[in-house]
Amino acid sequence: MTDKKSILLIIGGGIAAYKCLELIRRLKEQDISVTPVLTKAGTEFVTPLSLATLAETEVHTDLFDLKNETEIGHIQLSRQADLVVVAPATADLMAKMANGLANDLASTLLLATDKDVLIAPAMNVRMWQHPATQRNIDTLKQDGVKFVGPEIGDMACGETGPGRLSEVPDIVTAIQSAIHMKKGPLSGKSILITAGPTHEPIDPVRYIANRSSGKQGYALAEVASVLGADVTLISGPTKLPVPSGIRFIEVETAREMRDATLANLPVDIAICAAAVADWRVKKSAGQKMKKTKEGLPQLELAENPDILANLSDLKDKRPSLVIGFAAETETVIEHAQKKLKKKGCDWIVANDVSAKGNVFGNDETSIHIISAKTVESFENVSKEDAAKQILLKAAKELKL
Ligand code: CTP
Repeated sequence: MTDKKSILLIIGGGIAAYKCLELIRRLKEQDISVTPVLTKAGTEFVTPLSLATLAETEVHTDLFDLKNETEIGHIQLSRQADLVVVAPATADLMAKMANGLANDLASTLLLATDKDVLIAPAMNVRMWQHPATQRNIDTLKQDGVKFVGPEIGDMACGETGPGRLSEVPDIVTAIQSAIHMKKGPLSGKSILITAGPTHEPIDPVRYIANRSSGKQGYALAEVASVLGADVTLISGPTKLPVPSGIRFIEVETAREMRDATLANLPVDIAICAAAVADWRVKKSAGQKMKKTKEGLPQLELAENPDILANLSDLKDKRPSLVIGFAAETETVIEHAQKKLKKKGCDWIVANDVSAKGNVFGNDETSIHIISAKTVESFENVSKEDAAKQILLKAAKELKL
């Protein structure tokens, strides 16, 4: 018996398939062995020879390959790895998976496996947003399939939006997390963290924002990863470096943050550390607004979605633990206790943002972790220490 972890990597036929070559190299650096399975469409984008050379093993492509069938068989192939990974997962492969089709080697393996399945989708933005794909995503999530990505960004087809394959380091992290290679009190747990301010455009050059630096949310993401969690950080604009070993999604507005948050469920723990702008300009101007003789511009505001309250309110996908933050300037604990009730979350982490508290942009903070029954205070701690206290308490809570 060996402790070496292995994955079965199913490569779908999409332009992002070339990234699986880099993925194999990075997995091998982590001492994870890879058995590649290439779909017929996948052979149009990468060759079995390149895969075999990098993986240093045979590449499987055909369901009715007599030699393979007598020597290992597709059932055995689907079960001998620690995890089945599909990258890139095309709309077609996902549709097959969601409907239990088994008409080629990849889909047969996916139906026959008794192991966890992690998929990294990649497709055109319209294909991703199509109701059929969205239905399949829901079905796959209900079936327990784990997702990494897709990311939002520019795509090979020239369009922009969700549908880009996650970056290779993010896929490696998700694989490590799925096979419990990350050790720590939070290993095997997934955490979603919102961080930073949001920017709400007034016109193309002006926006409504606030003074959040994002430091507390980024510290939470970094510490959660060190403690073994599978971390997704959804951040508004900040100047901070992205912590390593986590999945990072950058957004600008509250509505983008809400969409990214809902798209990355289910998770075990959600922590809303972002200072989301409460209001946006109802109709931001398409061009830069000019000073006119007619007087001052009138900005009509609209209320932004409350991401924390939305998460707390979910029926099916509510995280086991939903944690909010309360930035308060007076009677901090009382106000935070009211906020806990109002938002319906499990804990509120309160901090004093009055001039005396001086939290924004500072490396130190004082926090109170407030649940329906308890208040635990940590005075003058670094934001890393504050993060550690919150996360260790969360790890304990999930084990209860
Ligand atoms: N929050 C959120 N979405 C919003 C507003 C706030 O997810 N649109 C979250 C924050 O991330 C934080 C918590 O709600 O975890 C509290 O935010 P805060 O700004 O302190 O509270 P408000 O809801 O704005 O209430 P008030 O303005 O009365 O203090």
